[in-house]
Amino acid sequence: MKSNIQPLEELETWHRTKDPWGYNSNEHDLFRREMLFSELPEREYKNVLDIGCGQGFITKQLNVSSVTGIDISQEAIRHANKNNETNVIFLQGSIFDITKMFKVKFDLVLITGVLYQQYIGDSSNLIYLLIDQILEERGHLVTVHINEWNICQFPFLKLKEVIYPYRDYNHKLEVYVK
Ligand SMILES: C[S@@+](CC[C@H](N)C(=O)[O-])C[C@H]1O[C@@H](n2cnc3c(N)ncnc32)[C@H](O)[C@@H]1O
Repeated sequence: MKSNIQPLEELETWHRTKDPWGYNSNEHDLFRREMLFSELPEREYKNVLDIGCGQGFITKQLNVSSVTGIDISQEAIRHANKNNETNVIFLQGSIFDITKMFKVKFDLVLITGVLYQQYIGDSSNLIYLLIDQILEERGHLVTVHINEWNICQFPFLKLKEVIYPYRDYNHKLEVYVK
């Protein structure tokens, strides 16, 4: 069966460029980051995981004592680690391997711009199971995606949903509690 997932080599080529999507200079991306931080539930998180963190656009600005960012692309992680003056640990790894990568559980899991067909194919149900295994009881899951491309609805209690314009689309931010 032919996979509709973007080949890793293409992602690696893409991430050879610093900030390939131009997040740092796009007002929509600066806004989505501010929006995410302002909508995070007020809680002192102890252990945060950012899945598909790219080059750390969101991850590096999180003000939490223990943060790990993972991305499937080695090049993305190389950029993220360059001049990294934060306490964030960046590791190469796929969302499909999170239960093998981590023995600890997280009280906040972030997934922004990753749960698209291009990256996860038709594996939404598997993703729900994997996230469930690494999220603490009563832990929060925050997802942000282009609404028009969104393919996941997690089977947790949804605390919040916010939709706002993003580039040529709309973004949907969702906050779940396990
Ligand atoms: C659109 S970018 C979003 C980056 C970052 N989360 C943000 O919001 O700024 C999607 C990222 O997901 C990563 N990715 C794609 N498939 C993945 C997978 N299976 N596991 C982990 N990361 C993946 C890509 O390399 C890319 O960095």
